[in-house]
Amino acid sequence: MDAGLMSNLAESIAVVTGASRGIGFAIAKRLAAEGTEVVLVARDAESIRRARKNIPGKTLTIAADVTSSRDVSRLFRRIKKLYGHLDIMVNCAGIFTYKPFRETTLEDWRDNIETNLTALFLTTQAALPLLVSAEHAHMVNILSVSSSRTFANCSAYTASKFGALGLTRVLRKELRAQGIRVTAIMPGLTDTQMLDEFGFEISRDNVMQPADVADAVIAALRQPERTAVEEIFLMPSSGAV
Ligand SMILES: NC(=O)c1ccc[n+]([C@@H]2O[C@H](COP(=O)([O-])OP(=O)(O)OC[C@H]3O[C@@H](n4cnc5c(N)ncnc54)[C@H](OP(=O)(O)O)[C@@H]3O)[C@@H](O)[C@H]2O)c1
Repeated sequence: MDAGLMSNLAESIAVVTGASRGIGFAIAKRLAAEGTEVVLVARDAESIRRARKNIPGKTLTIAADVTSSRDVSRLFRRIKKLYGHLDIMVNCAGIFTYKPFRETTLEDWRDNIETNLTALFLTTQAALPLLVSAEHAHMVNILSVSSSRTFANCSAYTASKFGALGLTRVLRKELRAQGIRVTAIMPGLTDTQMLDEFGFEISRDNVMQPADVADAVIAALRQPERTAVEEIFLMPSSGAV
């Protein structure tokens, strides 16, 4: 492969939201292992500081709520001041509500839509000027199997993740002209704290590990600049649930 066409992760700056645990933590760790300078973002300052201690490499933590336009503006003002540009934006922060529709409250609905969908609007709007300033930027959105398949008792989550895939597909088309690649990763069940939200026991032996999703992210980022990995679906080999 022509080395000049390969993305150089070692000289890149990345922001990973939802990086304090689970899939976001695994992605941040893999990126840092590649030599990428990674900014870890989550709401709880103490848990991202703790996460950072478990990641060898160049990392920084910035506490921010991705549903807050003020926090998101502050986050990217800080990135601009520190680096002047951004090579990799990983949107991974997310929440999940497992309830029958009739028990789903307006608050549940809004929390899922705000965190899993509106946050993508906010971070993308704020990150774009910095991504445009990078030579070959890449946005990776961690969506879900629930972006294209439906399961009972997940109405708010499913609505947010379907919307997030729609937005991601439009962004891919609009940002192509600016040399920004956009990848959607759609994982199925993965062994994280999120599984505790299900109303029934899930065998952790039959689900994927966060590192499996992180490997897919790195594979997409490593593609030569002529190639865009548009969408990756990852499922436990034992099936959906
Ligand atoms: N686990 C699965 O089976 C699975 C399957 C498909 C897709 N996914 C998707 O993968 C992503 C990561 O999920 P996970 O399983 O790793 O969940 P997790 O272990 O619960 O981690 C969620 C992360 O998001 C952060 N977060 C939540 N709300 C936030 C907000 N408003 N602002 C900033 N950070 C916020 C959390 O930190 P704070 O609480 O401190 O903010 C935490 O770091 C989500 O988008 C999820 O929908 C997960």
